[in-house]
Amino acid sequence: METMVMSNKQVIFRDYVIGFLSESDLLINSTTVNLKVPAGSMTALVKNLYLSCDPYMRNRMRKPDPSSPATALSFIPGKPISGFGVSKVVDSGHPDYKEGDLLWGAVGWEEYSVITPIPNLHFKIHHTDVPLSHYTGLLGMPGMTAYAGFYEICSPKKGETVFVSAASGAVGQLVGQFAKLMGCYVVGSAGSKEKVDLLKNKFGFDDAFNYKEESDLNAALKRCFPVGIDIYFENVGGPMLDAVILNMRPHGRIAACGMISQYNLQIPEAVYNLWLITYKRICIQGFNTIDYLHKYSEFLEFVLPYLREGKITYVEDVADGLESAPAALVGLFHGKNVGKQLVVVSRDLH
Ligand SMILES: NC(=O)c1ccc[n+]([C@@H]2O[C@H](COP(=O)([O-])OP(=O)(O)OC[C@H]3O[C@@H](n4cnc5c(N)ncnc54)[C@H](OP(=O)(O)O)[C@@H]3O)[C@@H](O)[C@H]2O)c1
Repeated sequence: METMVMSNKQVIFRDYVIGFLSESDLLINSTTVNLKVPAGSMTALVKNLYLSCDPYMRNRMRKPDPSSPATALSFIPGKPISGFGVSKVVDSGHPDYKEGDLLWGAVGWEEYSVITPIPNLHFKIHHTDVPLSHYTGLLGMPGMTAYAGFYEICSPKKGETVFVSAASGAVGQLVGQFAKLMGCYVVGSAGSKEKVDLLKNKFGFDDAFNYKEESDLNAALKRCFPVGIDIYFENVGGPMLDAVILNMRPHGRIAACGMISQYNLQIPEAVYNLWLITYKRICIQGFNTIDYLHKYSEFLEFVLPYLREGKITYVEDVADGLESAPAALVGLFHGKNVGKQLVVVSRDLH
């Protein structure tokens, strides 16, 4: 087999993390990679262009525990971490992939990865008139999350009231815009004035508040939802979920997309008002986007026209270079990202 060896910078996982993730839990290392893969190996060598920073990655840093499905795919200490990214095929030993193909899907956090393409985990990119970086967010896993979570789990109807937490983030900004397109009344919470301004002025939310400045979340929600909440798109958990339950209307739906406020805690916080879901006939449903990725082409058909017509907009927070990846990932858990956090590994498509 032909060889063409290149240096390959990687983001290495030091060891299982207890408590808040810090940059020192990750380290940048350089190794080498052969850019040629054997014919018939069913693998492809890809050059990574963009990497997606996603909150669930913190849960993959927990020590594997058979009783916790969150740790089923824990990272391996001493090895590069992995996640979703946009990449270009450099060499292929797989009949369905050829040099030059653009993909989004599971890759290592490194300059080059050897992947074994798997349907519903690796998708070819056919639409390049839109920003390629969007395949880490709007047109990638977070976009599918907003689509499946809102339309499949929340069962929305025109005129309903919708609350979204972490609303300016990768998923939240889309859920709010989908809900507005459906004719719902939409309020979002976020952790800074800049984010609240984005929600109201760029994403078209009807109202928004900075939860860090509210001493009483129940009062803030009552102020924004005098008639109560029909749909809660749950991204944060903790005290926000408790306050939301108090404000849910009968037969309300809560899509439990994620609970980022709990991911770094050694002991999760209690939810005190859960007992009320019986009296209010509330449906709380968790979901995992992985179960909906077979609907990806349906999603693209839905969302691309809105994007091209400017009816949906998407804000990204771009960190430059693999060296900046640890800080970008850690920043998610401190609200440093404004919009979808991604890392540019290379803008060079050649
Ligand atoms: N179910 C699935 O398949 C699936 C798929 C993708 C994502 N998710 C979940 O969806 C949620 C949002 O993900 P994303 O990718 O869109 O992330 P994101 O909102 O772009 O970034 C994370 C944001 O969470 C907020 N945050 C961080 N710590 C917090 C805390 N202690 N309390 C309240 N808010 C906090 C911060 O915004 P503020 O400045 O507003 O605090 C931060 O910017 C996460 O819970 C994630 O796990 C689930």
